[in-house]
Amino acid sequence: MAESAELRVGDQTVELPVVEGSEGERAIDISELRAQTGCITLDPGFANTGSCQSGITFIDGERGVLQYRGIPIEELAEKATFLEVAYLLVYGKLPDKEQLEYYRESIRYHTMIHEDFRSFFGALPKDAHPMAACSCAVGALATFYPDSLDPRDPRQVEVSIHRLIAKLPTLVAYAYKHSIGQPAMYPRNSLRYVANLLYMMFGNPCEEYDVDPVVAKALDLQFILHADHEQNCSTSSVRLVGSSMVNLFAAISAGINALWGPLHGGANAEVIDMLAAIRDEGMSGRQFVERAKSRNDTSRLMGFGHRVYKNFDPRAKILKKACFDVLDKLGVHSKLLEIAVELEEIALKDDYFVERRLYPNVDFYSGVIYNAIGTPSNMFTAMFAIGRLPGWIAHWAEMHADPQFRIGRPRQIYTGRTKTAFTPIDQR
Ligand code: ACO
Repeated sequence: MAESAELRVGDQTVELPVVEGSEGERAIDISELRAQTGCITLDPGFANTGSCQSGITFIDGERGVLQYRGIPIEELAEKATFLEVAYLLVYGKLPDKEQLEYYRESIRYHTMIHEDFRSFFGALPKDAHPMAACSCAVGALATFYPDSLDPRDPRQVEVSIHRLIAKLPTLVAYAYKHSIGQPAMYPRNSLRYVANLLYMMFGNPCEEYDVDPVVAKALDLQFILHADHEQNCSTSSVRLVGSSMVNLFAAISAGINALWGPLHGGANAEVIDMLAAIRDEGMSGRQFVERAKSRNDTSRLMGFGHRVYKNFDPRAKILKKACFDVLDKLGVHSKLLEIAVELEEIALKDDYFVERRLYPNVDFYSGVIYNAIGTPSNMFTAMFAIGRLPGWIAHWAEMHADPQFRIGRPRQIYTGRTKTAFTPIDQR
């Protein structure tokens, strides 16, 4: 017999179905609760609220497990490329050779952006934050492709997905070039996905630019690790915005904006700024950790803590190792990495962090890699967005295919004034 939960509200008892996921996660289905009792549930920050059923990514925050479509992140990090992972997330299975080749070709074919984007970026201030520039640019794709905006037309959706995955690196690179006053580089389609991004960012029309395979591999790994993380802030934003039946470009633009925040994807840039400040101010790791703990100081240990992971973030483990490998291969000695390791060691033994179960998250070491390969910190989150894009798309598509699809519309408990008469202006 299907499991159920009993809830007593006043003198009324209601039976609520319990839903079980494929990894044994359980949820009480409260979708009929208001109809039956007049009550809603209240869960600020949605820490206990499942907004959907999803078959894309599984996380067990207690055991530090992360799987895309059932495949452990450790295996994907070791054996897959980012485009394979993107395919896996969006289409639900790994591509065979032929599918992968077709997919690569299609992505390659769409890398160029409309020439008018030069004037689009030219209209932005030089110091425009790349996340603002990219979210506008992705939203603007809808104006260039009015032929593919219907979220329920499979062919239009397919072409929009390929356009987005292909064009976001070009848009990110344009945003970067604009910020440093260099000419935007056209994509070079003989290069692989990540190499092409590096070429567009760090190449210039006057010089030859050879992509360093160590750098390309490190970036590919970062993108794999960032590719999805179930119902995080930006993905939930993509789903919520997308649930209004808006086009994919608009929903992804919303995701980019959500990712920008320092408590979410923006943390990778905050980490490097924090490490640089510690270095420049000659502070010890211990001094900074004490500041991060203090209630009188707003500093947090950026790159530490996670809503879901309470023992370790498997992505941080992989990245820490990759960080040492990449820096070693590039022959880079990084004071920032030294400080990061020191902070981690101190925090992991400190009661404050232990009691609150705060561990390094994916952003703690990712910035050190971006920094070592020459990426300025204001570009880190835009790079993250390239990695997260397939996850956003997969969730958007899954939501549209869900037979339970409805516009997302949470409720609230109203705590404002009760009915109040309007006061004419001369009596206020
Ligand atoms: N440094 C110091 N204290 C922290 C930190 C931190 N990094 N993170 C959490 N805490 C403390 C809080 O002050 C709070 O303490 P209290 O109980 O004494 O009030 C307690 O730990 C719980 O923290 P919350 O903010 O309630 O935890 P929540 O789950 O809401 O937030 C978050 C998670 C936003 C990631 C938080 O840990 C944080 O701000 N970390 C730093 C920013 C960061 O690295 N974000 C990237 C996350 S990964 C990603 O989005 C890709």
